[in-house]
Amino acid sequence: MKVYVTRTIPDIGLSLLKQEFTVDIFPHDRLPTKPEIIAGVKDADGLLCLLTDPIDKDVITSAPHLRMIATYAVGYDNIDIATATTRGILVSNTPGVLTDATAELAWALLISAARRIPEGDTYCRQGKFTGWAPLLMVGQEITGKTLGIIGAGRIGAATALKSKGFHMNVLYTDTQPNPTLERELHAKRVPLEELLKQADFISIHVALFPSTHHLIGRQQLRMMKPTAVLANTSRGPVIDEPALATALKEHWIFSAGLDVYEHEPKIHKDLLTLPNVVFAPHLGSATMDTRSNMARMAAENMIAGLHGQLPPNCVNPEAYRKKP
Ligand code: DGY
Repeated sequence: MKVYVTRTIPDIGLSLLKQEFTVDIFPHDRLPTKPEIIAGVKDADGLLCLLTDPIDKDVITSAPHLRMIATYAVGYDNIDIATATTRGILVSNTPGVLTDATAELAWALLISAARRIPEGDTYCRQGKFTGWAPLLMVGQEITGKTLGIIGAGRIGAATALKSKGFHMNVLYTDTQPNPTLERELHAKRVPLEELLKQADFISIHVALFPSTHHLIGRQQLRMMKPTAVLANTSRGPVIDEPALATALKEHWIFSAGLDVYEHEPKIHKDLLTLPNVVFAPHLGSATMDTRSNMARMAAENMIAGLHGQLPPNCVNPEAYRKKP
């Protein structure tokens, strides 16, 4: 059987795949275009893809032998799950192994944006630091403040739990209660509007669905405190980026830390000129440990799926049940 891999991933995953299958890897150090993905997958049984690959109906229907798609990510909003399921193609993701890495990055962004670290770094490098000053780059204190978690699934909950050392009051919004957060942190589940009005630090952790597209827009930004710090490590389109640029420019909120972008990898030009926003190039899962674990997990899912088993992290088990 043949597996097409759209970009080199850590060797631990590739070695596992190579023990079982013929593995064909996109040969360039850049994102493949959609026609390149179509050309690569056309005679493949399995596709190992990235979150940046548009695995839509055109791609899926161009691969008549395709039985398994293993994405090297926890988010799978780039894959047309309905088309895959209709064709009996299993889709898997890599949940759990990137939870702590992403929660750590959410905190890195919150702290950097609150304490103006990148601004200070630039200032020092430019030789502008001529001495301590009482009002130099004062930011927002974190300890004892209110943390608002939008989406208390695995990553949102881990981000909340990591606030323990800051002795924060934790609010969260989710369709489901999270008993761990309520027990461990006395966290309170509140409607989004209440969270936006009360939280000093807001971290977004919802998956991208039509219902979460532009969940944070002009109206929601207007509800936040002028001292609020906002971080997004989920998916860019959850925030209306032009509205965020206005909010930061006009100081409706204090600052923001972004790892993901509405039209990734493009960043809204107005945001790029603002000092009160901290950028990361989608690094949520980017630690050596996590990326290796993701590679192993994606390969194990692929091996199970192509050997006729239900992959451990299948997101459309109904496709398995449909199989003859
Ligand atoms: C994912 O896996 O979906 C994350 O966005 C990676 O950072």
